[in-house]
Amino acid sequence: MRLQGKTALVTGSTRGIGLGIARAFAREGAAVVVTARSGKDCQAVAEEIGKEGRRAIAIPADLSKSEEVRRLARDAESALGGRVDILVNNAGQPRVAPSVELPEADYRYTLDLNLNAYFLLSQETGRGMLSRRSGAIVNVSSVNGTLAFPQRLAYCVAKAGVNMLTKVLAIEWAGQGVRVNAIAPGYVATEMVKGLAAKGILDQERLSRRTPMGRLGLPEEVAEAAVFLASDAATFITGSVLTVDGGWMAYGYL
Ligand SMILES: NC(=O)c1ccc[n+]([C@@H]2O[C@H](COP(=O)([O-])OP(=O)(O)OC[C@H]3O[C@@H](n4cnc5c(N)ncnc54)[C@H](OP(=O)(O)O)[C@@H]3O)[C@@H](O)[C@H]2O)c1
Repeated sequence: MRLQGKTALVTGSTRGIGLGIARAFAREGAAVVVTARSGKDCQAVAEEIGKEGRRAIAIPADLSKSEEVRRLARDAESALGGRVDILVNNAGQPRVAPSVELPEADYRYTLDLNLNAYFLLSQETGRGMLSRRSGAIVNVSSVNGTLAFPQRLAYCVAKAGVNMLTKVLAIEWAGQGVRVNAIAPGYVATEMVKGLAAKGILDQERLSRRTPMGRLGLPEEVAEAAVFLASDAATFITGSVLTVDGGWMAYGYL
C-alpha cells in the first residue's frame, strides 16, 4: 500500500496507460479521480475500482479545452476532500500526417491536449500542493520528447515541451515539497497503438523487432513506474524523465 491515504487525479484513465495507472494507484491505497471525455467509460472504471473496495470518482472532461481543464481541477479537488496529492497528466494522442499537410487545427489540438492541459492542471492543482508543502506530479511524456519521428511534428513538439515543463516546475517547486517527474514510454500495447496499427500507420511486428526486449510494453509496466515516482520511495527524485521503453532509446545500431 505505497499510496495509502493519498488522493490522485489521473487523466485519460479509462483506457491504456492511464487505466493501468488508475488501477495501480487504487490498489496501492489512493482515492482516484477517473477522467476522460466519455462519461460512460469514466463511470465504468470508477465502478470497477469500487467493486475492489477502493475509492474512485468519475469526472468527465475534454482536456483540449482550457475551461474544462480548470473545471476538472476544481471538481477533482472537491470530490477528493479538498486536496489532490498526486496529479498524473496522461491523456494524450498523436495526430499523424506529413508536416507539410498537418492542418493547423490538428497542430493546435495536439498541443492543447498533450502539453497545455498538462501545464494548466499542474498550475491549478499545484497551488494546493504548494500551500500544503506536499505533492507529486507525474507527466506521461514519450520517447518522442527526445527522438524525432516523421509525421508526428505536433506530438513530438508537445512531448519535448512536457519534458521541459517537468524540469522547470521541478526546480521551481523543489524547495516547497512538490516533486515533478515524467515517464517516457516506448511503444506500449494500448488501444491507441492498436488503432494506429489497424489503420496501417504502425506495424506492431516491426515495432517489437526495433525494441531490444523484442516486444511492446504493457500499461501495467508503465503504471509501476508511476506508482514509484508518486510514492515516498522517490522522495529525492524530481525533474527526472524516466524512460520505460524496453531499451528503445538506448538502441542505436541498424
Ligand atoms: N501507447 C504508447 O505506445 C505510448 C507511447 C509513449 C507515450 N504514450 C503516451 O501515453 C499516454 C496515454 O496513451 P495511451 O496509449 O494509453 O492512449 P489511449 O489508449 O488512446 O487512451 C487515451 C486516454 O485519454 C483519453 N483522452 C483522449 N483524448 C482526450 C481529450 N481530448 N480529453 C480528455 N481525455 C482524452 C481517452 O478517453 P476518451 O477518448 O474517452 O477521451 C483515454 O482514456 C499519452 O500521453 C501518450 O502520448 C503512449
